[in-house]
Amino acid sequence: MTAIATAQSCANIAFVKYWGRRDDALRLPLNASISMNLDAATTTTTVAFDPALAADEVTIHGAEDGGGAARRVSEHLDRVRALAGIATRARVASRNSFPMGAGIASSASAFAALTAAACAAAGVELDERALSILARQGSGSACRSIPTGFVEWHAADTSAGSYAESIAPPGHWDLRDLIAIVQTAHKTVGSSKGNALVSTSPFAAARLAEAERALPAIRRAILARDFAAFGEETEQEAIRMHAVAMTSRPSLLYWSPETVRLMHAIRAWRDEGLPAYFTIDAGANVHVLCEGAHAGAIGARLRAEPGVGDVIANRPGPGTRLLDGHLF
Ligand code: PMV
Repeated sequence: MTAIATAQSCANIAFVKYWGRRDDALRLPLNASISMNLDAATTTTTVAFDPALAADEVTIHGAEDGGGAARRVSEHLDRVRALAGIATRARVASRNSFPMGAGIASSASAFAALTAAACAAAGVELDERALSILARQGSGSACRSIPTGFVEWHAADTSAGSYAESIAPPGHWDLRDLIAIVQTAHKTVGSSKGNALVSTSPFAAARLAEAERALPAIRRAILARDFAAFGEETEQEAIRMHAVAMTSRPSLLYWSPETVRLMHAIRAWRDEGLPAYFTIDAGANVHVLCEGAHAGAIGARLRAEPGVGDVIANRPGPGTRLLDGHLF
């Protein structure tokens, strides 16, 4: 008998970033973070446990992966197998609606969808909190793609205390994230490595203190739909994360010339009265945050900027859900 299930998860964009861990194996973050699910950036994953398989088979975007990604998937399946008390290998297929490895947390949507699909296929019934804790162990930011809408991930010294939960549903605020794609190639240093280097930056402690100060301010601004307060704090937090990355040893410089050009452009638009702010993850692409009323104008300006290949327009997205159809 083959047990099969499919799940779909949104990527998420962090307004307070997860950058640095207190426990590498359990992926316990130094600081709590806040994010929004991105409705147009999804991963769909089918998992089928099949007694006829001698090893896990992992296909990502139609191509079989025998390398690093497949190993991480197998390690995560081992966590689910341990919960289910089975040793059965699985066939896994996964499809993204956006380019991989370019700073659109593809590991977040990937590990959230894998967690939900694998648990459902293995008959492991977990509540949302337990799914978030399990997803976190596959990829930290994945725990934030389990709950719906606007999400906060708690920092704690124990695995049981470090999960994400929704602070507001998608319909709470018509906030948009227009992702300006300036780079689709795989980044050279993944966020897992970058996270491990945080302690080598002389600014790590200062950034941590600032993230802890900014978190309640950003949560309040989201709940009050105060775009200016939200944008100011969010943009500063992104720059602080990159300051730590740039001053790590080795130094990580994620920005390309196009990234910096867009940062200047967005500030110039703001000076003209067009309310937009940016945030940037561990990649070169720029996430432009605005309210729905300005999304058309800002999207048009972004598409006209040199070096911008595509713009992925996101609204607040739902949490991880199971789908009836399967990828194979
Ligand atoms: O969960 P990871 O290893 O993909 O790390 C994500 C790190 C950032 O995207 C840069 C920040 C964040 O909080 O999402």
